[in-house]
Amino acid sequence: MYVLGIETSCDETGVAIYHSEQGLLHHDLYSQVSMHEEYGGVVPELASRDHIRKLAPLIKNALKVTGLTHEQVDGVAYTAGPGLMGALLVGCSTARALAWTWGKPAVAVHHMEGHLLAPMLEPNPPKFPFVALLISGGHTLLVKVDGIGRYQLLGESIDDAVGEAFDKTAKLLGLGYPGGPRLAELADSGKSRFKFPRPMTDRPGLDFSFSGLKTFTVNALNKTEKTAEDRADIAYAFQEAAAETLVIKCRRALNQTGLTRLVVAGGVSANKRIRLSLNEMAQALSVDVYFPRLEFCTDNGAMIAYAGCQRLMAGQQNDLQVAAKARWSIDSLTELNAN
Ligand code: KG4
Ligand code: ZN
Repeated sequence: MYVLGIETSCDETGVAIYHSEQGLLHHDLYSQVSMHEEYGGVVPELASRDHIRKLAPLIKNALKVTGLTHEQVDGVAYTAGPGLMGALLVGCSTARALAWTWGKPAVAVHHMEGHLLAPMLEPNPPKFPFVALLISGGHTLLVKVDGIGRYQLLGESIDDAVGEAFDKTAKLLGLGYPGGPRLAELADSGKSRFKFPRPMTDRPGLDFSFSGLKTFTVNALNKTEKTAEDRADIAYAFQEAAAETLVIKCRRALNQTGLTRLVVAGGVSANKRIRLSLNEMAQALSVDVYFPRLEFCTDNGAMIAYAGCQRLMAGQQNDLQVAAKARWSIDSLTELNAN
């Protein structure tokens, strides 16, 4: 089964073609970073308009590069949420219109399920069940995963997502947008000098809170001359706090569930320090840890094509209505074989 995957939930236009037996045949991404950069963050209306400009050419090119005709495409998978409403609607309506014109089924994919399944595109994919730590710009989720669509939410952020905390802290340090990778780069040149807290680790439970780290950043910055070295040391302290907090909560989730596999995905899973810390923790616990390759940590069409292919193969599809959901809880998804 050939599946066209479309991702437009935020500031990247992603398109991919996945084949149920041959695997990933093509993927391409157009990033809007340079457009949003001058505003210091994603401008939703500009994001929607740019998806409109870029999506059709990316789809045409995907068919051209793979040599597929639209008759050969067996289904279309599209991100239906969560994300920016206008941006989502571009992908949803394009996918629905194509599927209708081609007479093929289309399936709505949950963006975080896409992230969760991204490690399945790697040569050594995880087997179910596992614990998933999903860390993106909009979400921080700990999920017990028993199969596709069998998700039990173990914990989530009660305020800022970890990616959002990276982005906001980066802004406070004058690093602009996109903040996460810039802060990570600056942290690499920093040293241990400031002590930031590990929020919500002193009490039981698997929820997170990252917004307090911003206050620590402001307070630490105000106590210094704000030199390049000061900023690098604060970036270092922030990154250490984020990494260790994630490690503590993952260890707790693994102990609580008794599972021995951990999947880490979403944009922040591209962070080298966080990957290293989680790898060290997993090794100490004899747990296997799985990350997507770097380019599939952040938003992409490949993960949507993969997730959609699994659902289409199980006979799932959505009706013609274009329904995007800005908010959509991952534990409300249907099991793969529920139809
Ligand atoms: O998954 P993603 O591409 O989009 C969402 O679904 O939100 O994640 C984007 C988030 C942003 O907050 C970005 O700053 C963060 O991932 N990010 C990073 C790194 N690369 C991306 N954060 C820390 N270190 C990185 N290397
Ligand atoms: Zn994402």
